Amino acid sequence: MHNFAGVVLAAGIGSRMKSKLPKVLHKIFDKTMLEYCARALEKAGATHIIIVTGHKEDLVKQEISKWKLCCDVSTAYQENQRGTGHAVKMAMPLLKQGNVVVMCGDGPLITEHTLIELVNDHVANGRQCTLVSTIVDNPFGYGRIIRKSNGELTKIVEERDSTKKEKLVKEVNPSLYCFNVTHLGQALEKITNDNAAREYYITDTIEILLKNGGKVDAKLSFTPQEFLSVNTRIELAHVTKIMQQRITESHMLNGVTIVDTATTYIGSNVQIAQDTIIYPNTTIEGNSKIGSNCNIGPNSVVKNAEIGDCTNVINSTVTDSIIGENTDIGPYAHIRPESTVGDNARIGNFVEIKKSTIGNDTKAAHHSYVGDAIVGNNVNLSCGIITANYDGKNKHITTIEDGAFVGSNVNLVAPVTICKNAYVAAGTTVTHKVPENALAIGRARQEIKEEWKTKNNLEKS
Ligand code: UD1
Ligand code: CA
Repeated sequence: MHNFAGVVLAAGIGSRMKSKLPKVLHKIFDKTMLEYCARALEKAGATHIIIVTGHKEDLVKQEISKWKLCCDVSTAYQENQRGTGHAVKMAMPLLKQGNVVVMCGDGPLITEHTLIELVNDHVANGRQCTLVSTIVDNPFGYGRIIRKSNGELTKIVEERDSTKKEKLVKEVNPSLYCFNVTHLGQALEKITNDNAAREYYITDTIEILLKNGGKVDAKLSFTPQEFLSVNTRIELAHVTKIMQQRITESHMLNGVTIVDTATTYIGSNVQIAQDTIIYPNTTIEGNSKIGSNCNIGPNSVVKNAEIGDCTNVINSTVTDSIIGENTDIGPYAHIRPESTVGDNARIGNFVEIKKSTIGNDTKAAHHSYVGDAIVGNNVNLSCGIITANYDGKNKHITTIEDGAFVGSNVNLVAPVTICKNAYVAAGTTVTHKVPENALAIGRARQEIKEEWKTKNNLEKS
């Protein structure tokens, strides 16, 4: 692999998005468009990435700070958006000698394979610039690739500056280039804004280098879809659909069944093992890792969660948590962040688990809230148990040791401990430690008032 740097242009407003957010910060599933671009450069082996910022630079910098890439990322500020050539110029002081890939932050479908091929082709042919070109049915809006009758490249012409004849050209510029840094710098010195948009175009460097006798060529790609750029929310939805198809297909080829690809949304970092089935209306995001033979969905949301083999998550939400093997989550359970659920466990209908550890073979089958709790193995949490973990100021821990049985409708007022194999009778409010093997019962003793209804004359006439 050859060394190269990457420059991503991201200074524009993206006015057609009609948004307060800069265009490149709009998301496709769980990642911004800009992050897709940077990740493709990173995976292709870029040693250094420079992002040209401008509009709302602070927001773009905030976004970049979240990535943790394995290569250096820095930003170059373009105060006024005076064109793509002017934008690249801002990055020049940060570039060392060698080669640089220039791309736009609104083209999130470009893959690392295409970037690697581009750099390899550029280096193998010893060019000053290699650009990618592609053929589209409707070239409107794109810069056109202009060639001589013998096929030799001469220049790129922008839509607004093109002649009638040039407008007919269907070979277009998707805005992906590999330049030799020294020659790029020299050509950028010569570009002017003598054009319809009064902008400094990066595309003008092509003609300048060629006129100077430099070796420049356009490498034709037959996958135009990869170079779709996003300018409106309609295009964002279109590109999102393509990304969705791309991701679901890669999982299906790896042995995952996806029942309905149209309603399944899987982020690009998600791992899913063989023979797992994803049912409709399911979203799996972040760094989620799903084991084999699981059933996820329908109607589930899994975010940054690790899920063991043979586990089911049905109609449920699991966030930032770890779930063991052979465990049933749902229907209608909510596993909130920092929770761990063991193997062979069951978290059933309308159970909310928050920042808690639930052991192996433990069951909370219906209508419960378990927060800030440490629950051991083989525990039965009956219907309607509640950890009262919050006193209005602080959160407190509830500990329930192995083999304990907590009856229905029990309040556990934390901090409190239920020791090993202890029982808590239904309806009890527990405020003190329950010792091993003991029974805690704390509720008003039942009274019977015989013939109460007749005595009070409450019979219906
Ligand atoms: C550009 C190309 C065109 C190509 C098309 C592909 C030029 C002159 N034209 O046109 O040949 O077919 O992309 O999509 O390069 N940007 C800055 N600073 C600026 C101007 C733009 O950072 O001063 C950024 C924008 O934020 C955007 C990218 O550069 O991410 C592309 O700019 P845009 O104005 O959309 O270029 P196009 O007109 O699409
Ligand atoms: Ca564009």
